[in-house]
Amino acid sequence: MTGLSDSFQRPINYLRVSVTDRCNLRCIYCMPRQGIALSPRSEILSYEEIQTVARAAATLGINKLRLTGGEPLVRAELPRLVHMLSQMEGIDDLSLTTNGVLLKRYSAPLKQAGLKRVNVSLDTLKRERFKQITGRDKLSHVLAGIEAAHKAGLEPVKINMVVMRGINDDEVLDFARLSKDEGWNVRFIELMPFGQAASLQFVPVAEIEQIILSLGPLEPCSFSPGNGPAKYFRFSQASGTIGFISPLSEHFCFNCNRLRLTADGRLRPCLLSDEEVDLRQPLRQEASPEEVSQLIRQAVAAKPERHHLAEGVLPKERTMCHMGG
Ligand code: 5AD
Ligand code: SF4
Repeated sequence: MTGLSDSFQRPINYLRVSVTDRCNLRCIYCMPRQGIALSPRSEILSYEEIQTVARAAATLGINKLRLTGGEPLVRAELPRLVHMLSQMEGIDDLSLTTNGVLLKRYSAPLKQAGLKRVNVSLDTLKRERFKQITGRDKLSHVLAGIEAAHKAGLEPVKINMVVMRGINDDEVLDFARLSKDEGWNVRFIELMPFGQAASLQFVPVAEIEQIILSLGPLEPCSFSPGNGPAKYFRFSQASGTIGFISPLSEHFCFNCNRLRLTADGRLRPCLLSDEEVDLRQPLRQEASPEEVSQLIRQAVAAKPERHHLAEGVLPKERTMCHMGG
């Protein structure tokens, strides 16, 4: 196995697979309240088609997979897909990003099917605010889901908080405290202001860090399952960690190691660029594994050097629910 790398010598070893564009929440920065025009089911890749892509990717050197959405747990029989992928040679890390609403029901079956770990998106600990941000009264479901994920051993469970000025930035300290009090691994994410999020304001990570430092000094730590873009710290003696993800104030494109597969079967070299390589049609015309591999190589070669969000260059074609963050 030679491994994949792009035109900027970045090794590419991580594929994020969106399994559905459907979601059971309507987060203000992602989905319009009325929902989005959903892809007809016939346009969504089957689990077998996803498996074919993942197998070709693994042969090329992809060793990490993450399932995303929309909300991946609204797709029927997700543990079946997890089972298909977790058995695959070459895949060492299989994880899931979820809003947590259905996690209580699915944690044990997912673990059994071979899922390693989960990231849960949670932007507030207040019930009323959760309703405002997500359009649904489901905070208690998410909290129960997080507990169930721990019980099932889907570790480390990471909690992703997208910080929005004037909306939930007053809860940064409450989330940070949970890294001490409950051992949570909390990651603070700068909102990327595009699509639905265009009218919302992000909070720079440096400002979030300042707020958190009022609780005590943070020590850098090496916690990095997945080697993602987060920088990790902890309070002394805390069992949990604090992570910062700064797509805007300090972009991490030079370390980008990922490709995305959309639910309707397109490989997307960069979250923030509209360029895509279609795999669905070739898959449905019985493309050979070599042809699929060649298309994956083509997508890797098309990875841009970096995004230009700060300069106002935005993706137009799709919203986050197609791409899974
Ligand atoms: N900026 C930053 N994060 C976002 N997410 C969704 N939309 C945005 C955005 N505009 C996050 C979700 C979730 C992950 C899939 O992406 O909160 O944690
Ligand atoms: Fe659903 Fe995630 Fe979008 Fe919220 S951010 S609406 S949970 S896909």
